[in-house]
Amino acid sequence: MTDSRGAKWAPRWRPAMAMVGVVLAGCLLAAPAGAQSAKPPAARGQGKAPAAAVVSAQVQGLRGDPVRGLKKSDDERCQECHGADGNGLGHSEGSEGRLPKLAGQPVEYLLKQLDNFRSGARKHDVMSMMARTVTPADLADIAAYFASQPPMKGDGSGDNPVGRGLYERGDAGRGIAACITCHGPGGKGLAGAGAESPRLGGQEWRYLEKQLLDWRSGDRSNSRDGVMNSQIRPLSDEEIRALSSYLSGLP
Ligand code: HEC
Ligand code: HEC
Repeated sequence: MTDSRGAKWAPRWRPAMAMVGVVLAGCLLAAPAGAQSAKPPAARGQGKAPAAAVVSAQVQGLRGDPVRGLKKSDDERCQECHGADGNGLGHSEGSEGRLPKLAGQPVEYLLKQLDNFRSGARKHDVMSMMARTVTPADLADIAAYFASQPPMKGDGSGDNPVGRGLYERGDAGRGIAACITCHGPGGKGLAGAGAESPRLGGQEWRYLEKQLLDWRSGDRSNSRDGVMNSQIRPLSDEEIRALSSYLSGLP
């Protein structure tokens, strides 16, 4: 395993996902009889977007340049909503707060999302328009720039016991795996897992809450095999708030 950026992702996430799959299968098998089956149910909305979990040939294997990406992210106005270094706008309370930080996300994850906004596999009016007006090669440079920035961090306020419990242990009785299995200790993602393991720690809480609600309702359905939909579907509004608050505060 070499550098975490640049190389084609297919050979890299496979071992990581195999590992995650084993752990996840272990969690689900350990669940009491009568709990949900180990096979994740097909996500709502999956039928409409069969190619949701993969990236298109246009971006597959593209290798971006972070120096070119700095200028392009300014020219294409990405910085206006995501911050000059991808660490957000710094005024999430009060204002929208649904603008995600991008700093330090795996480049493969950022590029997959941009590709999914382009294809419609992930739906958001503004971002689909933004992603469609920029060429895949420019998107790869911009993704490389934000990925190379000092990773997002919370203010250390996230010690929410309900959120922490779900994150670290899940809830086998309801078929919920521990989020940490895929998103890593401290929400920092798993090294080398690329698009399969976005950072969550230090992300804007309103953004996190919206994503969790969207995974639950099926409005977002672009994860491989619908894994995020099946993970979040059993959660209550309170649990979603607890997770968002816990994760956004992680230092
Ligand atoms: C007008 C504001 C705005 C602009 C300009 C904008 N974005 Fe976004 N972006 C958003 C919002 C809002 C979301 C969250 C969408 C959602 O809720 O699903 C988002 C989401 C994203 C995501 C997904 C983040 C994640 O964690 O999954 C990426 C990647 C992204 N934007 C990259 C870009 C790039 C690259 C540009 C410039 C070409 C850009 N954005 C321009 C508002 C903006
Ligand atoms: C089996 C692996 C796995 C487990 C377990 C898992 N996730 Fe995920 N999660 C993913 C993958 C893969 C993605 C990226 C999907 C995509 O390509 O858009 C993701 C994406 C997300 C996102 C969107 C991030 C962003 O920037 O938009 C959030 C929020 C999230 N997961 C929260 C959770 C929470 C909370 C839990 C535990 C209740 C959890 N996940 C459990 C694999 C997992």
